[in-house]
Amino acid sequence: MRDTLVIANWKMNGSRADNARWVETFNAKAPSLSSRCVVCAPFVYLSDLVNTLSIDVGAENVADEVQGAYTGEVSAEMLADIGVKWTIVGHSERRTLYGETDEGVAKKCARLVSANLRPILCVGETLEERKSGKTAEVVLRQLDAVLKVVSPKDLGAIAYEPVWAIGTGLTATPEEAQAVHAQLRARVAEVDDVAAQTLSILYGGSVKPANAATLFAMPDIDGGLIGGAALNPNDFLSIAQACPAR
Ligand code: PGA
Repeated sequence: MRDTLVIANWKMNGSRADNARWVETFNAKAPSLSSRCVVCAPFVYLSDLVNTLSIDVGAENVADEVQGAYTGEVSAEMLADIGVKWTIVGHSERRTLYGETDEGVAKKCARLVSANLRPILCVGETLEERKSGKTAEVVLRQLDAVLKVVSPKDLGAIAYEPVWAIGTGLTATPEEAQAVHAQLRARVAEVDDVAAQTLSILYGGSVKPANAATLFAMPDIDGGLIGGAALNPNDFLSIAQACPAR
């Protein structure tokens, strides 16, 4: 079947000392986990983490160009060069705060695939969009932009993250999330049925140790993208422990 995955998104948090403590706690218990885990962290800490963490490391963003005069940007090739394996693309904070478009997100995914990195594509609707019945339209539009330029088999994962659930303490119910995950998988299947069955579709948005197991029990929820709760290694481990192997 498909991999279950639990991915930490540290966002703009951490310090060398805090990260070292996180890694020590995590590494000690990691061998007992049945699902695969990845930690996505700020660029400056990635090398340290590649050298010390017992699992794959991911970035939180990437440039949409290959190389050259793009001050402040970090390319997919550079990430690959230091041993990074995954990268979050199209997180709602990037779309909302930094004006990332569907097309820009698609271009970033294509750059990652060219560098043999696995994109974690985030999609999700705002509260207004959900209230006006536009959830499917929005998330499928975001997915379609990427499927125009990247083959589904090259996606590392899709993360459904309702914008209204991120960092708010509000969570989609398992049934609400399952319905969107099934729509996303059906759309991927229109392009590549085999890839759709093996692609991990993760839920993100206020996942905590207390609600993880019921979310992960849904047939199309293959794990989670974890923000706030991933800052505490024990909470992240509890969430990973709630994720069954499939
Ligand atoms: P949250 O963040 O778990 O803090 O809601 C999830 C995310 O933004 O990826």
